[in-house]
Amino acid sequence: MQNPFAFSNYVTGESFCNRKRELSELLKYIKGSQNVLLFSHRRYGKSSLIWQVFRNIKGKELDIGAMHVELYGTISEKDFITRTFQGLTQLESNFEKLLKSVSKILKNIRLNLSIDSATGRTSVSPSFEAVNEKIILEELMNILSKYSQKRKLVIALDEFQEIASYTEEGFEKRLRSFIQQHPNICYIFSGSQQHLITEMFSSNNRAFYKLAESFPLDKIETKHYIPWVQNLFSRKNVQFPVEIIEDIVARFENHPMYIQNFLFHLWDEPEEKGFSPEIIDRIENTIIEKRNLEYTVLWESLSINQKKTLKLILLNNGANLFNTDSLKSVNLKTGSLVTKTLSSLMKKEIIVKSEIYMIQDIVFKKWLQKTLSF
Ligand SMILES: Nc1ncnc2c1ncn2[C@@H]1O[C@H](COP(=O)(O)OP(=O)(O)OP(=O)(O)O)[C@@H](O)[C@H]1O
Ligand SMILES: [Mg+2]
Repeated sequence: MQNPFAFSNYVTGESFCNRKRELSELLKYIKGSQNVLLFSHRRYGKSSLIWQVFRNIKGKELDIGAMHVELYGTISEKDFITRTFQGLTQLESNFEKLLKSVSKILKNIRLNLSIDSATGRTSVSPSFEAVNEKIILEELMNILSKYSQKRKLVIALDEFQEIASYTEEGFEKRLRSFIQQHPNICYIFSGSQQHLITEMFSSNNRAFYKLAESFPLDKIETKHYIPWVQNLFSRKNVQFPVEIIEDIVARFENHPMYIQNFLFHLWDEPEEKGFSPEIIDRIENTIIEKRNLEYTVLWESLSINQKKTLKLILLNNGANLFNTDSLKSVNLKTGSLVTKTLSSLMKKEIIVKSEIYMIQDIVFKKWLQKTLSF
């Protein structure tokens, strides 16, 4: 029987747990063509939520065109344009028809057709020869505008923070001015580098200031994991005890990806043994060990003060870090040094601050606890 759990890419359908409230809220914004800024820590399920809401739009046969543009890895305006252009194929199942309607709208640019070697599907991108990128962006935006006059669109620009590092003069401003002229399009700006993405939308000297409604995505509540896990395991005729689900969810602090990762491994355990504490511990250790290399590289990239500060956080559960005794325990000299180091760790997204300071990646925290042995 196929393992229903997955953790390396986005998930939809049966592998997607609950998020009913988020789905209906997101759909409300899409129907009303309001822009949203979807953000969370890494691997909480932003892309999955987007793909699942697209699936629901299709399932409900709503007349809304949906397009997902993956901006991860793009480094220039040209990359942005190419990816968005390629995304157009999602709006039209008939490629010939797409080509015809796009060509009709274009004034100054030629199109290149290519076959995507991974999917075997034909894709289309503009030819950058002899035409200024500014003009190509304008024409691309014109295509979106024309399409959205016929039917509403939702366009997800995933990993949107990437555009902040493009070096082309005024790109953010130009993009904003087009987006503002699209009343029938809901743009979902999505990203995981929270400080970067929220800065783009909340600082009044940035182009995207107040262009979208904030949509922070939280972890998934324990009460939602229980029926989802029980239902999937019932296919193997396994009755999954609630307390064990609660234990697993608590071990990974409700983190969607790590919980799927855990259940993926658990699925292949022989069920006749039940879910003993030994099995649960063993799988948890496997998950930590598999990341050993990644975490060693990360640890070695840190300065000595950053290492001490992480230890300080762990020893004090993230609170009272500036006590003289706390500082002494890790041999850190002054509170001001800690303040500086905490801010550098937050910039790297290794720690986050709520009421207390926390290590963002829960498995990294477990690895540190094991490695630093305390
Ligand atoms: N609703 C969900 N139910 C169950 N598991 C989920 C759900 N959403 C996400 N996950 C798990 O989290 C993993 C990461 O999901 P996804 O790629 O959507 O997150 P993301 O926030 O877009 O990540 P990134 O920060 O890398 O962009 C998925 O592979 C899946 O294991
Ligand atoms: Mg994502």
